Amino acid sequence: MIGLCDYLKSVTRAEHKLAEKALFARCFVRGAVEIDAYVQLLTDLRVVYRHMESIVATTSDPLTRRVWMPRLARSAAIAKDLEVHGTWAKPSDASAIYVDHLGRLAEQQPHLIVAHIYTRYLGDLYGGRILAKMVRRGLKLTTTDGTEFYEFGDDVMTLRTGFRASINELAISEQHKFQIGDEAIRAFALNRGIFEQLQPVSTTRMLKFAVATMMTNAPALQPSRRRTLPETIAPQTSR
Ligand code: HEM
Repeated sequence: MIGLCDYLKSVTRAEHKLAEKALFARCFVRGAVEIDAYVQLLTDLRVVYRHMESIVATTSDPLTRRVWMPRLARSAAIAKDLEVHGTWAKPSDASAIYVDHLGRLAEQQPHLIVAHIYTRYLGDLYGGRILAKMVRRGLKLTTTDGTEFYEFGDDVMTLRTGFRASINELAISEQHKFQIGDEAIRAFALNRGIFEQLQPVSTTRMLKFAVATMMTNAPALQPSRRRTLPETIAPQTSR
């Protein structure tokens, strides 16, 4: 029988693709994120992680207790990053919706919290290093100060493997597995809600970026025509 972690990976594949395609994500992976958007993202994630981490610290749900590792906690690191940047944003409605949802789950269906632990922390463990590098590039940071959120220490591979295995090894009923799968899809949607209200860069720069991306992706365009794009429209040179 397929383990829960592998099952969640397969049922959220389409959601993951959608998340990667969001404009914010596409800008983010190119280091095209300005400080206001990054601070908004950190503020929203801080709200979500604080709530999630207060739930996991006190829950009696056996599934959560079996997979949770205190080393995964992110809220303190995010608070440190916000201090480095010297500013906080107003938490968005999307983060409030996420937190309300987590609170309801904790009260009514605590076994579904595992879906959120999987979605957030495994996602950070996989994508964190590269995203941190891109943030540092975009914001011209020379140390990890300000991107501690993405730092899990040197043995991130071991942590990732152990965390994956602990989710895969959970002994659960088929019914619970399907419910947790549905909940993981919801978790991706809630995260997309946070992404979608973010404006990664100023409107002018974003329009240039959107035009450049459309041109690069347009199948009808021949490479020779793509190369005629003015330098000023290319995402890397539009700062
Ligand atoms: C900037 C956009 C993103 C990029 C480029 C990205 C990239 C990646 C990559 C390369 C992996 C490893 C995939 C593999 O080994 O098969 C991964 C895994 C994962 N990502 Fe993302 N990701 C992004 C956004 C997200 C978001 C928004 C979430 C959810 C909040 C997320 C959650 C996950 C999860 C849960 C995994 C682990 C899948 C598994 O092996 O079970 N990712 N991501």
